[in-house]
Amino acid sequence: MNTKPKILITGGAGYIGSHTVVALLEGGFEPVIVDNYCNSQKWIMDQLKELTGQIIKEYTVDCTNLKELDTVFENETFAGVIHFAALKAVGESVSEPLKYYRNNVGSLINIIDLMSKYNVPNLVFSSSCTVYGEADYLPVNEQHPIKTAESPYGCTKQMCEQIINDCIKSKKLSRATILRYFNPVGANTSGLIGELPIGTPNNLVPFITQTAAGIRPNLTIFGDDYNTVDGTCVRDYIHVMDLADAHVKSLENMESKKESFTLNIGTGKGSSVLETVKAFEKVNKLKLNYKIGAKREGDIEQIYAETSLSEKTLGWKTKYSLEDAMRDAWKWQQYLDAK
Ligand code: NAD
Ligand code: WQD
Repeated sequence: MNTKPKILITGGAGYIGSHTVVALLEGGFEPVIVDNYCNSQKWIMDQLKELTGQIIKEYTVDCTNLKELDTVFENETFAGVIHFAALKAVGESVSEPLKYYRNNVGSLINIIDLMSKYNVPNLVFSSSCTVYGEADYLPVNEQHPIKTAESPYGCTKQMCEQIINDCIKSKKLSRATILRYFNPVGANTSGLIGELPIGTPNNLVPFITQTAAGIRPNLTIFGDDYNTVDGTCVRDYIHVMDLADAHVKSLENMESKKESFTLNIGTGKGSSVLETVKAFEKVNKLKLNYKIGAKREGDIEQIYAETSLSEKTLGWKTKYSLEDAMRDAWKWQQYLDAK
């Protein structure tokens, strides 16, 4: 009899979700994916089969459809849920706020409703350091004030955190771990799964790899006169495999302590845009074509995580470096280009 704890992974075909599916299998869990493929490709399921040697059970369901999502909970007996499913394009959220509120908040409400109906105890939620806005102090710890959101996307993360905390207080939800991700980058070291931006990438690292691949003529670095080490913005770039591992540790931690947590998930180290570009060039032995351009509206100058609470609580620490992430991101880009 299969005694592996079954975990629902909403958005499991996406960037972080697919990497977490691999980590869960390695950790002795049985992942079940729900995804509507609005921002991912179905062939990722084949990649997961090749990488893990296992067929992952999958439901093509929209998490905002309560009836359809209910059938998944009826068919399966979950020990927990990792809720990745959300829209995450900051710019699009400004032009289409209702799409983001309906999708990101609506899907969480359905998940909590069904976890309560089917007595599923453990929720891990994908939040973001974006909830902190421009930091008052650095590194940012979990006690840092939550600022007025800079975008409807950021507001959906703040609202979801509030909804989770209110539902724990009301005992609608048994317990949850809210993970505030900093900047996930890189790809599985196998080169078989990674970030799959649709259209022009918004994020730095896929833009770097597409420039290196000749898909983009050059990278524009958005501003070099910030008050930072070299004038370019500073972020906390965490390898997606370290991030995936933190989710497995979060499930184990909640199951043993029967408590709720809110944790920063980052490396604790800030890296500037230029330092990230240099790391990419060094580890991959190539020159990147970039130029300095105007600042991007809404960008914050610098943010990086204070990670002592997550390290102590989860017994977790990042294992991969920025150069590892740049190496793996490039390996994945080359795999995509050869496909
Ligand atoms: P992604 O877009 O690669 O993955 C999200 C997945 O969810 C996609 O496969 C998409 O098809 C699916 N999805 C979206 N809405 C859905 C719905 N209503 N029903 C079913 N499936 C749905 O994004 P990602 O980078 O893997 O991010 C995962 C989570 O982490 C998101 O909640 C995101 O807000 C959060 N996050 C991401 C970052 C980042 O930089 N990537 C940083 C902080 C937080
Ligand atoms: C990183 C740095 C840019 C592209 C965003 C979301 C956040 C989260 C992570 C979901 C910045 C610079 C970028 C380029 C550049 N997503 N840059 N040229 O803005 O820190 O966070 O993704 O939760 O919510 O806001 O990440 O990768 O877009 O940018 O110079 O072509 O790279 O200015 O300083 P960001 P990013």
